Amino acid sequence: MKRVLGVIGSPRKLGNCELTVKEIAARLSGPASLSMVRLVDKDIRPCKACYRCLMGECPIEDDFRMVLDAIASADGVIVAAPVYLLGAHSSLQRFLDRGLQFWKRLDDLAGKPAVGVALAGVRDGEGAALLGVENFIRAMGMEVKGRAVIHAALPGEALLSEEGKVTAARMANALFSPEAPQAEDPSCTECGGTYFEFRGGNRVFCLLCGAGGSVSPDGGTIRLATRPPAHSWRGPAARKAHGEWLIGMKEKYLRERERLKEVARVYAGGDFI
Ligand SMILES: Cc1cc2nc3c(=O)[nH]c(=O)nc-3n(C[C@H](O)[C@H](O)[C@H](O)COP(=O)(O)O)c2cc1C
Repeated sequence: MKRVLGVIGSPRKLGNCELTVKEIAARLSGPASLSMVRLVDKDIRPCKACYRCLMGECPIEDDFRMVLDAIASADGVIVAAPVYLLGAHSSLQRFLDRGLQFWKRLDDLAGKPAVGVALAGVRDGEGAALLGVENFIRAMGMEVKGRAVIHAALPGEALLSEEGKVTAARMANALFSPEAPQAEDPSCTECGGTYFEFRGGNRVFCLLCGAGGSVSPDGGTIRLATRPPAHSWRGPAARKAHGEWLIGMKEKYLRERERLKEVARVYAGGDFI
């Protein structure tokens, strides 16, 4: 029996995200149990940037650890978030903001299969939401086995449309599939991401992994070539190295804090509302 966790990034009860998560779980081919977490119902407070979690425990006592434990102990994860103002619902990012703690759970999270869906009420209204959903999965080191946008505005519409049903079936097939997800063409040659910023000329920058590269015409299509980013945290080894780098930065701060404070002192004060 696979234990599946549905992560719902919508405040709407029985809304499109919740229905989509349940529909994907219902369509899984093998025996599975589904439990869910509605992120907005959890007390997930903002990271204070104290960096204490790097060497000890996070001082914030809220539901973050409970949710992370639930993700870490699931066999597979379904993430669904609504598009709000062209981005994924902020509850996803709010959780991710506490993510310096992920690197201590690398072994529990690495490679865990997950699928992500963004629910958009407007055709072509999804903006960068799927990037946010995919980043939520990848930032924890899980594997994106499938991702999709479903267009549905009113609660329930997600399952009325052919798009919704076909997508739910596709996500269900992908979640525990032994096959690696097929790379899309074109996609980042470093991470498989398909979200880019154009940086002048033919230069592109992958928004998921930071790889820089170039695009060039290739017959009727384009060829994309990216090279590894200067600082990577994709893959278990890179993530471990990133955690160690963060600890090094904390040590550097402790050594240099008097000098840094001197710079900041000049800017002390100001009117805050
Ligand atoms: C505050 C707010 C902002 C929204 N912004 C967008 C948007 O930018 N693009 C879009 O396609 N849909 C947008 N929607 C519509 C929702 O994404 C859509 O209705 C979705 O199906 C909601 O999922 P849910 O039922 O699980 O909450 C917005 C909805 C709300 C409440």
